[in-house]
Amino acid sequence: MTEWMKVLSLTKPVIQAPMAGGLVTPVLAAAVSNEGALGSLASGYLSPDMLEKQIIEMQQLTDRVFQVNVFVPESRKEPDEDIVQTWKNKIPCAEQAPSFSSEEEEWDDFHKKMNIILKHNVKACSFTFGIPPDESIQALKKNGCCLIGTATTPQEAVLLEECGMDIIVLQGSEAGGHRGSFLPVSGESTLGLMSLIPQAADAVSVPVIAAGGIADRRGVQAAHCLGAQGVQIGTPFLMCEECEVSEAYRRELKKAQGTDTRLTALFSGKPARGIVNQWMKEQQAEEANVLPYPLQNTLTKPMRKHAAKEKDSGYMSLWAGQSVGMLNRPADVKTLLAELCRT
Ligand SMILES: Cc1cc2nc3c(=O)[nH]c(=O)nc-3n(C[C@H](O)[C@H](O)[C@H](O)COP(=O)(O)O)c2cc1C
Repeated sequence: MTEWMKVLSLTKPVIQAPMAGGLVTPVLAAAVSNEGALGSLASGYLSPDMLEKQIIEMQQLTDRVFQVNVFVPESRKEPDEDIVQTWKNKIPCAEQAPSFSSEEEEWDDFHKKMNIILKHNVKACSFTFGIPPDESIQALKKNGCCLIGTATTPQEAVLLEECGMDIIVLQGSEAGGHRGSFLPVSGESTLGLMSLIPQAADAVSVPVIAAGGIADRRGVQAAHCLGAQGVQIGTPFLMCEECEVSEAYRRELKKAQGTDTRLTALFSGKPARGIVNQWMKEQQAEEANVLPYPLQNTLTKPMRKHAAKEKDSGYMSLWAGQSVGMLNRPADVKTLLAELCRT
């Protein structure tokens, strides 16, 4: 057993990926923690009140360690009104979208969530899309909270370590959902895990955890050989019966091959990997013209909500990693974790 597992009292070197958007309930995350892996609540898109309710429910369902994941707000350039109007005309149901949140409101939401995490003595907290402010890092550390950062390059991993992260999740380009990148990338390429793990493991001294495209024990063992001390798994949990995945989404997950996904910013303004669908095909030529995150996300929300209600997978975000082609059998949390950790 490695040190990070001892710190978090884990018996399995697996983190269930936080998956925002109502997919991961406390029931799923607690089932993971109760199996000796790290269950994760995702605070993205949740109000602070909803997050508090989930933490309380989680603490009733498990006395093991779990983590809360938080999005770090980014500064952005406000787009031209003309471009906003063009997207409003193009995105179905965009007229029903609420007004855009300001950066100040996003930071207010972030700080409220930090206070809730501190108040309820959550023992692990992970961040994506950036580095939290130093005051939050210090307050969490003082409370004995283990801090987990997300990096997509060795450079981001180094910066996260310098800022005090105890563990770094390395997210390869195979991963489902949003990329956690926060530094501008020099060059054109996104790194796959095979290259990212050894480069980042050599560059930092804190434990690194591999995320992206891992769906069975072979992936877990390969990540370990490359220098990772554990894995973070997202897409395979989507197929577990404890996951709140809609019928249309589940149908697409079952059907998809690994080659059916790609990165797109068309839903939210930030690159994320999902199963290619009608919206992505129709707007492919507009990838470079999306509004910055989270503005594009705000405008597409009514479209996605309407599509989910109509069971129309063409206009929903179908986040999935490249392991999606391996999800051919129904599973539950216990069976999936047993398979991942089989020796
Ligand atoms: C549906 C979905 C939602 C996600 N939401 C989050 C999130 O809220 N926060 C986060 O840090 N990562 C999120 N991710 C990314 C995961 O943390 C992780 O990097 C990814 O799932 C690993 O790749 P895999 O899906 O191939 O296992 C999400 C991934 C998926 C598939």
